[in-house]
Amino acid sequence: MTANGHSSTNEDDARVPRRVIGTPAAGTAVLGKEAPPAPVEEPGVAYPDEAAAKKAERWVALLFLITFLGGVAFIASYVIFQVGTVNSTAASNLALGSSLTVALLSLASGIVIWVRRVMPKYNLIQERHLMASAPDTREYVADTFVAGANESGFVKHKLLRRTLLLAAAPLGLAPLVLLKDLGPLPGTSLRHTVWKKGLRLVVEGTGAPIRAADFNSPGGILSVVPHGYEHDLNALAKATLILIKFRPDQLKSGTNANWTYDGIVAYSKICTHVGCPAALYEQTTHHILCPCHQSTFDATDGARVIFGPAARPLPQLPIGVDSEGYLIAQADFDVPVGPSFWERGDAEAKAREARGNAS
Ligand code: FES
Repeated sequence: MTANGHSSTNEDDARVPRRVIGTPAAGTAVLGKEAPPAPVEEPGVAYPDEAAAKKAERWVALLFLITFLGGVAFIASYVIFQVGTVNSTAASNLALGSSLTVALLSLASGIVIWVRRVMPKYNLIQERHLMASAPDTREYVADTFVAGANESGFVKHKLLRRTLLLAAAPLGLAPLVLLKDLGPLPGTSLRHTVWKKGLRLVVEGTGAPIRAADFNSPGGILSVVPHGYEHDLNALAKATLILIKFRPDQLKSGTNANWTYDGIVAYSKICTHVGCPAALYEQTTHHILCPCHQSTFDATDGARVIFGPAARPLPQLPIGVDSEGYLIAQADFDVPVGPSFWERGDAEAKAREARGNAS
C-alpha cells in the first residue's frame, strides 16, 4: 500500500523489474524473459558412452598407479628418513606427509571418476511433500491456541498471572547461581608454586632426596618433586621439575649460573605451550622435548625455545644444597610456570623489573 492509499505491486508497474527470491520454478519468467523449460529427467538407468567409459577407465588406472607409487614412497620415506634431529624430523614429516597426500588424493580421484564416468547412472525420483501444514490445519492450531489462552484466564486473573511470573523468576536466575560451581577465581595462586627456600628436591616416584655429590654424571636427568608434596596433585601440577647435570663449560649465557649447583640445573617440567609434561630429553643435543606439540627447548641455554609453538623458555628454579649436601630450592620460580594465563604479563613484568633493580 502506498502513501496515497493505492496498492502497488510489481505486476502493476511494468517499469519495475520483477525480482525472484530463491530458485525460480522451471519455466518461470525472470526480468520479463521467458526461461527455457528445464529438462525433464526420466527415472531409469543410463549407461555411459562406451568410448568415454574406456577413456575414463584409463584415467582411473593411471590414478591408481599413482596411488601405488605414493604408497611405496610413504613406506620408503619411513625407512630412509630417520628422525633424531629437528631437521631430520622435519624432512621425515615432509616426505611422509607428501607421499601419503599424493596416494590418498589420487585414490579418491580415481574412485570418483570410476563412479561418475564408468558406472551406470540412475535417475531416481522421489516425491517430496510440502513442509508447511495445510492452511486449515494452521488455522485450527491458531484457533486452539487462542481459545486455550482465553480459557486459562491469563489476562483476566491478575493474581494468577503475577504469582506465576514471580514463581518463574528464581528459576530463570538459577543458571547464573550455578556459575559459582566453576570454582573460585584463581587470584594470584597461578603465580606461585610450593617451592620455597630450603625445600628439598626429591625423586618423583621414590621420594628419595638427592645428594648433589651423587648426581654427578653429566647428561644425567631426573624428574623431581618438592619434599612433602609427593602426593599433592595440585602442587605437583605446577611444581614438578626436571633436573639435568652438565659439565660447567656446557652451560650457555641463557642459563642463570647463580641458580645452578655444580652444573646441575632445574627447569619446570610444565611445558610453556599448553602445559603438557616436557619430559623427553635428548642427551646428545641437550634438547628437552614436549611430546604434545613438539616444542623443543635448549637445556644448556636457559631452556630457550628452539622449535615448536611454545612462546617462552621453561622457567629455571634457583637451587643449592643444605648442610647435609642435599639439593634444595633457594626460592620459588621468579616467573609463573606453565602455559599462558591472564596474570602472566603482570607477573613477568614484575619479575623483569625486580631483576632490573637488582642488577
Ligand atoms: S604442550 Fe608442549 S608443545 Fe604443546
